[in-house]
Amino acid sequence: MTVHAPLSAEAFDPVNHATPPRHVGVIMDGNGRWAAARGLPRVVGHKHGVEALRRCVEAAVQSRTPYLTLYGFSTENWRRPRAEVDDLFSLARRYLKSDLTRLKEQGVRVRMAGERDGLARDIVELVEHAEHETADGAHLTLTIAFNYGGRYEIAKAAAQIARASAEGRLNPETLSEDVFEEFLETGDLPDMDLLIRTSGERRISNFLLWRAAYAELAFLDVLWPDFQKQHFFDALRDYACRERRFGGAGSAVKASA
Ligand code: FPP
Repeated sequence: MTVHAPLSAEAFDPVNHATPPRHVGVIMDGNGRWAAARGLPRVVGHKHGVEALRRCVEAAVQSRTPYLTLYGFSTENWRRPRAEVDDLFSLARRYLKSDLTRLKEQGVRVRMAGERDGLARDIVELVEHAEHETADGAHLTLTIAFNYGGRYEIAKAAAQIARASAEGRLNPETLSEDVFEEFLETGDLPDMDLLIRTSGERRISNFLLWRAAYAELAFLDVLWPDFQKQHFFDALRDYACRERRFGGAGSAVKASA
């Protein structure tokens, strides 16, 4: 059994909960509305969104959540005005430079899920550098879904499987879910246990579709720039009270049977 160091008073203590989530995904939504409510340009909302992202990573480390995946830029986000897309890329660049040391100190292993083709070369290099520099991070695997689309991830895996079958490297008759997963970009991540979305919207928006198949959903009425560590801890506490049945009957049915 792992012995955990004491946590601060506000933190979620995984020791007191039988089954804390292993993998938490977050759809960081509401930057634009946060800025609009203050009469500010959307980029200011995104800047404050980066601050919230830092708090979220810290909360995941503090609560000893082993996997955190954040939706940083979806394949659909290209539909935004070019200036906003550029702002988001600039913030991502800045984050990867400014936070690398802090992430290493926190024991965070950074990785990216999403299409690298189509991203500026220097962003890909910064991502690769961060992935390399943080490869030993043992406390938290932070996956940033960037230029990411859930359907595309599955379609790409299917294409690779078709190629492997055509080349005789894989027998389609033996294709199981476990084998399929090996072809996913998120193949090395566990299934998502808890999916948090801020801003009151209640959608999954093409985020880690395969991994989120049985995720518990937490839709929070807070705009992302206002997200505090306490929101993360509260979502973990709420998760701990849920009964996960994975399609089974569950304890209530079993008890009355
Ligand atoms: C949603 O707000 C937020 C995003 C488009 C992605 C999150 C981006 C950040 C936190 C900033 C930088 C990212 C990285 C990876 C460092 P929205 O603009 O959709 O808000 P709205 O729905 O209120 O318009």
